[in-house]
Amino acid sequence: MQNIIYLWATIILCIHTNNKCGFLVQGLTSSTDIEALKAFKASIKPSSITPWSCIASWNFTTDPCSVPRRTHFTCGLTCTTDNTRVNQITLDPAGYTGTLTPLLSQLTTLVTLDLSENSFYGTIPSSLSSLSNLQTLSLRSNSFSGSIPPSITNLKSLQSLDLSHNSLSGFLPNSMNSLISLRRMDLSFNNLTGGLPKLPPNLLDLAIKANSLSGVLQKTTFEGLNQLEVVELSDNALGGNIEAWLFLLPSLQQLDLANNTFIGVEISRPVVGGGGNSLVAVDLGFNKIQGYVPANLGAYPSLSFLSLRYNALRGAIPLEYGKSKSMKRLFLDGNFLMGKPPAGLVGARAEVSGSLGDNCLEGCPVRSQLCTAKQKPSSVCRQAYRGRAAR
Ligand SMILES: *[C@@H]1O[C@H](CO)[C@@H](O)[C@H](O)[C@H]1NC(C)=O
Ligand SMILES: *[C@@H]1O[C@H](CO)[C@@H](O)[C@H](O)[C@H]1NC(C)=O
Ligand SMILES: *[C@@H]1O[C@H](CO)[C@@H](O)[C@H](O)[C@H]1NC(C)=O
Repeated sequence: MQNIIYLWATIILCIHTNNKCGFLVQGLTSSTDIEALKAFKASIKPSSITPWSCIASWNFTTDPCSVPRRTHFTCGLTCTTDNTRVNQITLDPAGYTGTLTPLLSQLTTLVTLDLSENSFYGTIPSSLSSLSNLQTLSLRSNSFSGSIPPSITNLKSLQSLDLSHNSLSGFLPNSMNSLISLRRMDLSFNNLTGGLPKLPPNLLDLAIKANSLSGVLQKTTFEGLNQLEVVELSDNALGGNIEAWLFLLPSLQQLDLANNTFIGVEISRPVVGGGGNSLVAVDLGFNKIQGYVPANLGAYPSLSFLSLRYNALRGAIPLEYGKSKSMKRLFLDGNFLMGKPPAGLVGARAEVSGSLGDNCLEGCPVRSQLCTAKQKPSSVCRQAYRGRAAR
């Protein structure tokens, strides 16, 4: 009697630990998952499935989740520990091309879907919103087009979204702030247009470089984003004024707004023990910013990289910049700055590198690396300051 119980226990254990004890275990994968995987494979062009790729090993004469995987399903997917459901699809960058089947939505236990660096095309199926356990979605470096389906904002578990390097267009979904678990979002190198909607509240890392975003940066877009560390919005068509609140976001470390059409910047002093103290790098180069160089940035205690190059700034370089203890690299070239640079920047003991060239400075000592690039011809500078008081 005891032996029989033992034998039963062993069989049940073997089923549950997926055949680790050598019994032949039948296919256990749920039929809806198998159907979805078959549809997924069927929508990939056979000519793009090379012999040693993961998808080539997806041979449905065996069960996808059954182990050991010696010849079939050797890579590209993983299953839940009970071998009944698929929980991860991470394809190899083997050059697969084809569209994405909406049936992927049947893989409801999927935690990771990573198809990056292939040649998938067509629209992103809005049915992906059914993947309520999805934490990572990467479609980076493919050829997806159309707009980002608004339904993906239903993905409450999503922590990382990477749709960069595709051909996505249209507006960003309006209800992006309902992505409550999202930590990282990279939508760079697409052709997204329109303004920024209110962002996910727990975001750490925002990158939407090289798109066609326009409009001004609104305070409501960033309101409550107390964990936001990185903002990369360079190479867009954003404009208007950059306001003081942006620099005071409590966790902000890197801000890259280069190559947009901003016309002004307002910066207040950092808040003691509060906003602005984490800010390390600010790039506002290649905009159309007018007015004086914002002196208050010199008071940000961690700021070590600052670029305001190629704007339309005038007046003197603020003395505050020479007093900064954190500044290591400073690019103010390509403006109309005049007068003598602060000794703290160009003196014998200064340790700041970068460039102050292509301005209207006088007495920029050539022994300083900051001053090696030439200043503007004096005719250009006279023209720029004609009829205006310098400061
Ligand atoms: C799938 O596997 C079976 C048995 O291992 C084999 O006979 C068949 O040729 C395979 N099919 C493909 C498309 O590789
Ligand atoms: C981006 O979209 C705009 C407006 O829809 C269009 O004029 C432009 O050609 C697109 N650019 C690229 C690179 O597709
Ligand atoms: C600015 O953007 C334009 C258009 O996207 C691009 O051609 C250019 O290289 C960019 N310049 C810099 C300095 O990034």
